[in-house]
Amino acid sequence: MWGILLKAVWFILPAYVANSVAIDVSVVPFLKRFNTPVDFGRSWWGKRILGDGKTWRGLIAGVISGTSVGFLQSIFRPDSILPIMSVKLAFLLSLGALLGDMGASFLKRRSGFERGEVIPFLDQLDYIVGAFFFAWIIIPVDFNMFIVVAIVTLPLHVISNIVAWALKIKKVPW
Ligand code: CTP
Ligand code: MG
Repeated sequence: MWGILLKAVWFILPAYVANSVAIDVSVVPFLKRFNTPVDFGRSWWGKRILGDGKTWRGLIAGVISGTSVGFLQSIFRPDSILPIMSVKLAFLLSLGALLGDMGASFLKRRSGFERGEVIPFLDQLDYIVGAFFFAWIIIPVDFNMFIVVAIVTLPLHVISNIVAWALKIKKVPW
């Protein structure tokens, strides 16, 4: 039981880091001005393509940090039961996570949801789906691992949002 959990968390760690850092850097004062939206403020059919919540700053910082953590995991694997991490896999997990998050924002804008409005499950799992999808380019992805990660992520997301709110990184605790 704990083995499966540890393996799943080890595998998805670069995606977690990428997603969290993309959000966390938004409160770093000297990075405040690097908030160019990925969609460059453009709209499509009267609605923003992605919205101001998806910035190049978040995308770039997230991919760099997720890939860096994956690099550390590739040189230091504390136990041989853990899946092997590589820089390439970590890069795909990080990029996939953030593109998945952007994909969800795209769907939210198309359906009329404003920036920051929460859609349960979509907001928590978008980046996990993106990460697994991109990892699949280079490795056969284990569907059971995806299920475990999804189940672990839901409560983890709730807890980390409350922590981020308490630290004033997020405006609302959800
Ligand atoms: N963020 C960012 N760039 C990203 C992802 C996140 O700058 N690629 C920052 C933004 O400041 C964003 C915050 O992290 O407002 C929280 O991220 P998220 O919850 O994903 O965005 P929302 O503001 O909720 O926007 P959306 O409704 O599009 O999900
Ligand atoms: Mg959100």
